[in-house]
Amino acid sequence: MEGRKVDDPAACHHVHRAERVEFPGPGLRRHGFPFTDEQVNDGKRSYNSACSTCHGNTLANGTMGPHLAGQVFDAKWKDKTVADLFTYSRDHMTPSRPHSLPDETYAAITAYILRMNGNEPGDQPLLTDPDALANQQILVPSAD
Ligand code: HEC
Repeated sequence: MEGRKVDDPAACHHVHRAERVEFPGPGLRRHGFPFTDEQVNDGKRSYNSACSTCHGNTLANGTMGPHLAGQVFDAKWKDKTVADLFTYSRDHMTPSRPHSLPDETYAAITAYILRMNGNEPGDQPLLTDPDALANQQILVPSAD
């Protein structure tokens, strides 16, 4: 699996910079999450080989899976936590091969999804223990 190229034209159009989606829904703001730049880079590579065929190379242009960035994603995930996103991906994705990647890879892909939704990396990694991610809410209500 590692390093294998998916034979899919969509996977060839790499996103050259982390395109950040900056429009959380009304009354919501982005949370700050611990994840590293290295995880984002690893996650991008793994996402492009394992997930982009269905979810799209921008995370918001998939034709065989729901958008993983932008308003559709916000609406669905605003009350959920990073633990939910990590465990959903790990335990359900890919649909035909759930939990087929190492937990570290699902954590890295989760970091990439958070990055593509406008969050900034820091120096603490996103952990593979769902308990540690359970109170990191994906979107929180805006103060104003
Ligand atoms: C063969 C196509 C396919 C592949 C490959 C795939 N997915 Fe999915 N994904 C789907 C479909 C279809 C759904 C919606 C149904 C469901 O949730 O099972 C979905 C749902 C999801 C959701 C929930 C989104 C939401 O808002 O409901 C997440 C998160 C997700 N996928 C992440 C991933 C990740 C991460 C990978 C790569 C490791 C991946 N998917 C690979 C087809 C795919």
